[in-house]
Amino acid sequence: MTTALLIGESATDESSRTLGDHVVGQLLRLSAVAGLKDTDAALYAQILADSLGAASTRLLSLPPPSASFLSDDHTPVEFSLTFRPDAAPALRVLVEPGCAADDMADNGRQGLAVIRDMASRWDFSTAQLDCLEDLFLLPDSQGPLALWYALELHPSGAPKVKVYLNPAASGSMQAAATVREALHRLGHRQAFAALPDGAAYPFLALDLGPWESPRVKVYTAHPGLSASEACALNRAQPGPAPEDVATFFRLAAGVGRPTGEGNEPEPRLDRRPALACHSFTENETGQPSGFTLHIPVRDYVRNDDEALDRADALLSHFGMKGAVLSDALAALTSRPLSDGVGLIAYLALAHQRDRLPRITVYISSEAYAVRPPLAPLAEQAGPHLR
Ligand code: TRP
Repeated sequence: MTTALLIGESATDESSRTLGDHVVGQLLRLSAVAGLKDTDAALYAQILADSLGAASTRLLSLPPPSASFLSDDHTPVEFSLTFRPDAAPALRVLVEPGCAADDMADNGRQGLAVIRDMASRWDFSTAQLDCLEDLFLLPDSQGPLALWYALELHPSGAPKVKVYLNPAASGSMQAAATVREALHRLGHRQAFAALPDGAAYPFLALDLGPWESPRVKVYTAHPGLSASEACALNRAQPGPAPEDVATFFRLAAGVGRPTGEGNEPEPRLDRRPALACHSFTENETGQPSGFTLHIPVRDYVRNDDEALDRADALLSHFGMKGAVLSDALAALTSRPLSDGVGLIAYLALAHQRDRLPRITVYISSEAYAVRPPLAPLAEQAGPHLR
């Protein structure tokens, strides 16, 4: 056990609580909600604490270790639950391991070292990542991230690992060329041409470890998106039913169905943009095998009570049981949901070839701050849709 873990649950003195104590406590409580064995949860908690390096033992009373883009209050950790109609929800944790570094180059180096440790611990190859190092992890890397990882906390004790990289590491003008070159090196020679036009390429992600069919995923940002435009973004064949994408968009964004009367404009997401993600598994056809739409629900609700209602409406529409979600939120924070906004950061609809659609709910750690709720409806102009 690391010191962080030992301190983890025993620190009663608020002034000595560390970032590690906070996120480890959350991970252990969430693992119980998700039905993981205590021994697996303890292992995952230790990996989380160790991977944060110096940030883990940093006092919570200090400011965040860096202005991490991973979450709004700069906690370098975020959790998510993926719901499927035919199985128990899967718990994941997203981490910025290099968050305590002085610059993005060092941040990336520390991140890479953490991934290499995991690779030797669980005996998987990092070849896919190694061949991209000179594109994404540069001595003068720029931008909001260098390397993040996510672990799917599998009941087997061997997690699935995902690594997130920044296509704009050498400047946003280079991002498209970097994505194209990365896909090419990974053998997906036709893939870039299959992507929809996006305003930006915020992430490229790789699956590492014991995946059945490891994916390369490319994220594109789509400011001002409407429901019908969201349907048109999908390039996967067979993709999700357009009606499913439109319903997801409306339930997540909180907009009604078009009445069909008159020429009312379609509501658009005019705050933080929706993100699309296309995943590539085989490289013969160049066609993506999966499509995911992410909606930053926190910018389109007044408070987390409303965000939970949206998530519940989605889960029941798509035939999934959502009881675990309320328990998960209670495992993260004791604050009333109406006292803040951003605990639920994103809602996502994922479609992967012949599988049933999945809904992912991203939940914030709020180690450093809670964003205040917006004023009730009567006092403000509406939920930011133009
Ligand atoms: N905080 C960033 C954002 O809001 C990155 C991020 C964290 C993110 N979790 C995510 C992006 C889940 C998409 C989905 O964009």
